[in-house]
Amino acid sequence: MTRKIMGRGVSVTFYGHAAFKLAGGGKTVLIDPWLTNPLLATPVSRVGQVDYILVTHGHADHVGDTVEAAKQTGAHVVVIHELSVLLAKQGVAKVVGMNKGGTFKTDGLEITMTQAVHSSTIEDEGRMVPAGDPGGFVIKFPNGFTAYHAGDTAVFRDMELIRELYRPELAMLPIGSHYVMSPAEAALACRLLKPKWVIPMHYGTFPVLTGTPEELKEHLKGEPDIEVIALKPGETVE
Ligand code: NI
Ligand code: MN
Repeated sequence: MTRKIMGRGVSVTFYGHAAFKLAGGGKTVLIDPWLTNPLLATPVSRVGQVDYILVTHGHADHVGDTVEAAKQTGAHVVVIHELSVLLAKQGVAKVVGMNKGGTFKTDGLEITMTQAVHSSTIEDEGRMVPAGDPGGFVIKFPNGFTAYHAGDTAVFRDMELIRELYRPELAMLPIGSHYVMSPAEAALACRLLKPKWVIPMHYGTFPVLTGTPEELKEHLKGEPDIEVIALKPGETVE
């Protein structure tokens, strides 16, 4: 089911938790593909064509089904350098290791890695190891449409720099609290980023992720230019 709200030639599908598929200009980007999460449990074979898989950090609820999705789709996996080494070791054939502030220009897309205030580890040979810094991504499509996926993060003042440099029209922001921002912090993030649309994520998957889109809307009552799009897992907006 597709809701028509943005009218910018890019479709955004929410698979639950922090997993999204963005498609536009003939290119498809999958972000934090924990597709088999308890909210929706999408078979990896169901996502269709994918050109790039972006993973914000090493935690299992974000790396998720990356190795399997990369195998099935042949996609390039774009991650911070340290995580690229670990994922290559775990069987990902095409990795693109990058770092914050840099932009990977490919196929008409511009993929920039941003800051995130969080941690990042991954299981490797049975133990938890550091997976480089956590990050977020700004994705610019060939028609100029620009989206920001914050990854897991606290709010940070330098979100103003993301606004100044990239002007994302759409922001995908965590709101669950406990491990990430709560709706109050996410509302401040919106004031710093000034997107036209915000899609809340990373809530409701586990009992501790208590933040809700309704709370975010309440905190954004004084911001009529920012629209909260609360997607149910499996929904698409374009
Ligand atoms: Ni995390
Ligand atoms: Mn997480």
